[in-house]
Amino acid sequence: MKGIILAGGLGTRLAPLTNITNKHLLPVWDKPMIYYPIGCLVNAGITDIMIVTGGNYAGDFLRLLRNGEDFGLKRLNYAYQKGEGGIADALRLCEGFADGDSVCVVLGDNIIETNINRAVSDFGKQDRGAKIILKEVPDPERFGVAEFSGGRVIGIEEKPKAPKSKHAVIGIYMYDARVFDIIRTLKPSGRGELEITDVNNAYIKDGSMTCEVLEGWWTDAGTFESLHRATCLVKEGGANRVT
Ligand code: DAU
Repeated sequence: MKGIILAGGLGTRLAPLTNITNKHLLPVWDKPMIYYPIGCLVNAGITDIMIVTGGNYAGDFLRLLRNGEDFGLKRLNYAYQKGEGGIADALRLCEGFADGDSVCVVLGDNIIETNINRAVSDFGKQDRGAKIILKEVPDPERFGVAEFSGGRVIGIEEKPKAPKSKHAVIGIYMYDARVFDIIRTLKPSGRGELEITDVNNAYIKDGSMTCEVLEGWWTDAGTFESLHRATCLVKEGGANRVT
């Protein structure tokens, strides 16, 4: 399985911090934000990794991460996303890198406490489809939110005003090679983006989506509130990271 970290977008919710650097290079406690998703993949045994970034500071990722030596990697792969076409638009750029393999996608501003080993190994036993990871949160309206029927996820709504559950879809997704065909069928959403939630709903409709609930804490770090929370959680509790 190959690993993909999506670190594009302009991070405008964190301006003026992001006027002078990329969101994923900002500090979360004692390390740049991008260290955490890399650690998440490496700790799950995924060492063939592509980072998608964009904006004006893409070169700084190379200066910081080089070939990934600090994480025990021999090589890192990079792609550049023009503009801010959405998470699925950034993922689209990884089709050649995936080269027919399944992929584990981590959003560059998502940080978790524990290891995703079990989810990765469970997904390895699936002959096709996708897997998402859920976490119960007090503020589901900020995220993609799962709708359940008879204990099964029957749909996901992106940032619903009236969420149908408290289970947010966290930014770690596993897909088979069909994901790139699914992305080709997507139309931009109301906010002008190719939505990862539309990709996940396509797998749910197809009957080939599985899900797990995450143990331990999870946070994004794309707003001032969540960036502060991420720093406190990492400082107090330690996170799933390599260095
Ligand atoms: O954090 C989990 C949530 O992430 C999910 O629950 C939502 O379903 C999903 O849509 C996403 O929501 P956000 O609105 O918080 O995503 P955001 O626009 O902040 O982007 C998250 C990361 O994705 C960002 O750190 C970098 C990457 N990204 C985003 C966009 C819009 C890209 O690489 N390219 C992009 O064009």
